[in-house]
Amino acid sequence: MTDTRAGRPSVQVVVGDAQQVAARAADVVEELLRERPDAVLGLATGSSPEALYAELVRRHERGLSFARTRAVLLDEYVGLPAEHPQRYANVIRRELTDALDIDPAAVHSLSGDVTSPEEVAAEVARYEDLVRGLGVDVQVLGIGHDGHLAFNMPGTPFDARTHAEELSASTVQANARFFGGDPGAVPRRVLTQGLGTILAARRLLVLADGEDKAEAVRRTVEGPVSEDWPASVLQRHPDVTLYVDTAAGSLLNAPRA
Ligand code: GLP
Repeated sequence: MTDTRAGRPSVQVVVGDAQQVAARAADVVEELLRERPDAVLGLATGSSPEALYAELVRRHERGLSFARTRAVLLDEYVGLPAEHPQRYANVIRRELTDALDIDPAAVHSLSGDVTSPEEVAAEVARYEDLVRGLGVDVQVLGIGHDGHLAFNMPGTPFDARTHAEELSASTVQANARFFGGDPGAVPRRVLTQGLGTILAARRLLVLADGEDKAEAVRRTVEGPVSEDWPASVLQRHPDVTLYVDTAAGSLLNAPRA
């Protein structure tokens, strides 16, 4: 496993086998919670953080407590029924928080139960204030194949706050796998923390695995900083580390094991 400064000064990249890199990312969370048990974690959904979350559950079983920890989710679909298994608030319970001792009331998410423009405006304003008020200590992120971060699609301004988005056709297609393979079942409308909201987190842990993410990782770390590739904004954050498996790191310029 190597641990190398990438082309841009602020982006650190850890490359190794999937378990090793998940353990390294979990170390960051564990060190934070041992120092400050009431820290605020920013949680992503999707497949990228699964190995990290499984590792955090193992560490909890060995004694790491989340009893005073707070958490905020990145994004949410609009209009899915409360019990729908793909509502991100339900996904995160299933994949992580139900297995921890975290207080369920301390796990915050956007509500997708909004229809009118007024309801959307009130919900995104509520959440922006909540996230900024809590102050995220460590934010977990995945990267979409088209460079999206949370649900900030290509073209989203870097300073965007929490807002509503329409998903791109490619993201609908990519997420159809969570909806029985049916793109027609994927909600088009979503709410998401903005790039500006995400960048306010103190530390960013970005996870990617698999050959299909290699180009996305390369563009994020070594490509130009451009709103056409939302994840390139990570190059502007002072404390960001990518944790990628060897397949996802395979197109990076600098030699990494
Ligand atoms: C999804 C989520 C993002 C996630 C990204 C990558 O659409 N809204 O938060 O990070 O796209 O997903 P995955 O990790 O499944 O590849």
